Amino acid sequence: MRREGILVSPSILSADFSRLGEDVRLCEASGADMIHVDVMDGHFVPNLTIGPVVVRSIRPHTSLPLDVHLMIEHPLQYLEEFVKAGANWITCHVEAGDDPGEFIRRARDLGVSPGISINPPTPPEALEPYLDEVDLVLVMTVNPGFSGQRFMEDVLPKISWVRERREALGRDFIIMVDGGVNRDTGRMAVEAGADALVAGSYLFRDRGEMAGRIAGLKASGGQDGR
Ligand code: DX5
Ligand code: ZN
Repeated sequence: MRREGILVSPSILSADFSRLGEDVRLCEASGADMIHVDVMDGHFVPNLTIGPVVVRSIRPHTSLPLDVHLMIEHPLQYLEEFVKAGANWITCHVEAGDDPGEFIRRARDLGVSPGISINPPTPPEALEPYLDEVDLVLVMTVNPGFSGQRFMEDVLPKISWVRERREALGRDFIIMVDGGVNRDTGRMAVEAGADALVAGSYLFRDRGEMAGRIAGLKASGGQDGR
C-alpha cells in the first residue's frame, strides 16, 4: 500500500448499484487508492446496505484494496465472511457491541489490516486502548447511516487528537476521515491531521469529474502531499 501523499477511498455507497463493477473500475481508473465499502445492518445505523456477497462480486473488478467499513452491531460474527469475500482492510466501530480488541486481533490473524472507527459524539479517548494495535483509525465526520450528509467541523479537533497520539506512540496507522468530504472539507481534515479521505457523493455526483476531484483531494496536503 502506497503511503506517500493523501490516500483517497471512494465510497461505493454513492455508486450505481446496477453497475457496480463498472463504477469500481471507474474509481481505479480515476486514481483512487482503495475502495470504501459501507456495510450497514439496520441496527447499528438506520440503513441497510452491502453484505459479503457484494464484496465478492466487486472483488474481480479491481486490484485496489477493499476498505470495508462495518457499521454493524456484531462485527465479530461477520468478520471472517468479509475476509473470505475479499476485504483487505476491515474496520469496526468502537461503539459496536463486540470487543474491538478481539476484532482487531482476529482480523490480523485472518491476514487483513484492522481499523477502528469512531462516531462524532464519542470522545476520542475511547480509541486509546486500540491505538497500539490498529492499522487505521477512521474518524467519522457525519453520524453514520447515509451518504450526502454535511461535514461536521466540530470533529476536527478529534482528528488532531488522533494525530498527536499517533506521534506520541510512534505508530504509523492511517488516519482516515469519512463523511461529507469535498475539496474544502477534505483540506480541513488534512490540515487537522488526516492522511486518507473517504468520499462518496462528491465523487459520484459527476462521474466525468471523478479523476479531477480525486486529484484535488490528493493535493489537499500541498505540493508534496502533506
Ligand atoms: C456514512 C458512510 C460514508 C458515506 C460517505 O455512513 O460511512 O462512507 O458513504 O458518503 P459522503 O461522502 O457522501 O458523505
Ligand atoms: Zn464509510
